[in-house]
Amino acid sequence: MNLTLKQGSAFQLPPYKSLENDELQDRINVARQQLGKQLLILGHHYQQDEVIELADLRGDSYQLSQMAARSTDCRFIVFCGVHFMAETADILANRPEKLAERAGHRVAVILPDMAAGCSMADMAAIEQVEAAWEDLGEIIDTDDVTPVTYINSTASLKAFCGRNGGIVCTSSNAAAVLDWAFSRTSRVLFFPDQHLGRNTALKMEITNAQMPVWDPHDPDYGGNSQQAIQDSRVILWKGHCSVHQIFQAEHVHQFREENPDIKILVHPECPQKVNDLADVSGSTGTIIRTVEEAPPGTKWAIGTELHLVNRLKHDHPEQEIHFLSPVICMCATMYRIDLAHLCWSVENLVMGTPVNIIEVDEETSRWSLIALERMLDVK
Ligand code: 13P
Ligand code: SF4
Repeated sequence: MNLTLKQGSAFQLPPYKSLENDELQDRINVARQQLGKQLLILGHHYQQDEVIELADLRGDSYQLSQMAARSTDCRFIVFCGVHFMAETADILANRPEKLAERAGHRVAVILPDMAAGCSMADMAAIEQVEAAWEDLGEIIDTDDVTPVTYINSTASLKAFCGRNGGIVCTSSNAAAVLDWAFSRTSRVLFFPDQHLGRNTALKMEITNAQMPVWDPHDPDYGGNSQQAIQDSRVILWKGHCSVHQIFQAEHVHQFREENPDIKILVHPECPQKVNDLADVSGSTGTIIRTVEEAPPGTKWAIGTELHLVNRLKHDHPEQEIHFLSPVICMCATMYRIDLAHLCWSVENLVMGTPVNIIEVDEETSRWSLIALERMLDVK
């Protein structure tokens, strides 16, 4: 490809889309060499293979936030994940003590495709959460409620939690975070994923009767009676992951009928019925570890994102691995990050014309950081 560049103007994306993967890979590797330690490419395990192979570090949401928090000598983080992950990386990599270590230089966090969002995160808007908090205050004492946001949420919701004594959680520490919350208050407002909230709280012997679901589109206390709110321990936001919601109890039954010794391994974003039936439920990191540690010949039906299940299948030929649903479900927004977008992002970094920088405003960052640091401190 012949790229002509006007002084100071960025490369445009369209020409990259017609390049073959081999050429894109080579060019990304050249850009990586040119940028050296200044560049850190982070990738979530749900990314397509071509992309994850080029990540310097890969992880689940919790591991990636730890990596961003630890980042030392890099100047650019290219985040092969979704928007909320890039926001979190920006907040953690540019927190005050890190800025001081770098004499005020910010790490620029780049999301190769701005359309890589998360449909679950979009299910809770800050205005809706603030309205819910106010409505709840008419029925219960909100000083006795800890707001807990799943990390799959916009920075404004993390800031809301920071301002209101709350905390962030990921799927790998949700139980410890709920313990933290209950050591402070008798109730929790959990958003945006009802399934992670419910599946985690059920293991703590909180019952469904104590977990009303708050529908932000229902103006009448989220569709709940005042009594239900008064009896609540965890108020669950009516949000879900469109990928994990696909898995159903009947899929588990079908696999078990055909394969009595099969083990069912699922992510806690799956609905309760699937979680209750599963042999193991855990975060992406737990799913990977569980397969890695299993003896050869173990049979699995795994309920999580398709790219990860296919990679596990490929990496563990000594085990028999199936996708739990007959319907293919991948995270379409993660999939937006392809080699063309990655190459376009890193070549623009080399040219000094960065594109797609995610920068959270100072006030939102300050309060979000409080909620994120509470999470990182929870053991
Ligand atoms: P974890 O990375 O915490 O397992 O979450 C999965 C997910 O849905 C990421 O968006
Ligand atoms: Fe969002 Fe679900 Fe995709 Fe994760 S898998 S980014 S929760 S839509």
